[in-house]
Amino acid sequence: MDPNIPNHVAIIMDGNGRWAESRGLSRSEGHKAGAEPVRTILKAAHREKIRYLTLYTFSTENWNRSKEEVDNLFTLLAKYIDQETMELLTSGVRLQGTGDLERLPAEALTALRQAEQITSANTDLVLTLALSYGSRAELGQAARHIALKVADRQLDPASVSENTLAAELWTCELPDVDLLIRTGGEIRVSNFLLWQLAYAELYFTDTLWPDFGEADLIAALKEFRTRKRRYGRAG
Ligand code: IPE
Ligand code: IPE
Ligand code: MG
Repeated sequence: MDPNIPNHVAIIMDGNGRWAESRGLSRSEGHKAGAEPVRTILKAAHREKIRYLTLYTFSTENWNRSKEEVDNLFTLLAKYIDQETMELLTSGVRLQGTGDLERLPAEALTALRQAEQITSANTDLVLTLALSYGSRAELGQAARHIALKVADRQLDPASVSENTLAAELWTCELPDVDLLIRTGGEIRVSNFLLWQLAYAELYFTDTLWPDFGEADLIAALKEFRTRKRRYGRAG
């Protein structure tokens, strides 16, 4: 693996609402505009030989937004997935969802499950959409599963280690994140991949998600190459 290329890039796609508001448009128009950079960045990531791309699409806390905004987001998502599935299939991208997916509206969940199935044999790039995702919820359910296995005597409590916990995460099949990008100007992680980010390089940009383009991704990758990853060792 080339250390100059992040194996796993995760993106907090923030700023759709502000992008729309600054143009006098509705927040939903902002989310709609946010679909285009997903296409562009996916293509560019593929070309740059990134193997895992994980997009924070909807958080556990985003359920607290208005019903109108939430409904609209999931309608857009279902449409996007349906439109893109064949392109994903032919371009070698495997799509999957992660999060508390059972909470998704039926239409969005059906579109996701269909696309997951259709693209399941692809191996070039794994595109993961974090949907109804929150790290604390993910860690909470992992702890619950471990407790149940212990109570059921399937698991010796003395053997529980960080690997046991990692294996119970929704994202257990994903490698650790190498590069986290957040658009929209906030310098926080908002309950995204807290465990998986342990040694990720963090990159924040003021660019709002609908304006984020290929050149912005290339700039983040360039910055990544300048970082010295020490993992606690002496430099
Ligand atoms: C990110 O954009 C998309 C989601 C969280 C679903 P926002 O909707 O949070 O946009 P801002 O932060 O209000 O500009
Ligand atoms: C993070 O953005 C969630 C997604 C991008 C899906 P938010 O807009 O929800 O984050 P906060 O509320 O500013 O922390
Ligand atoms: Mg936001």
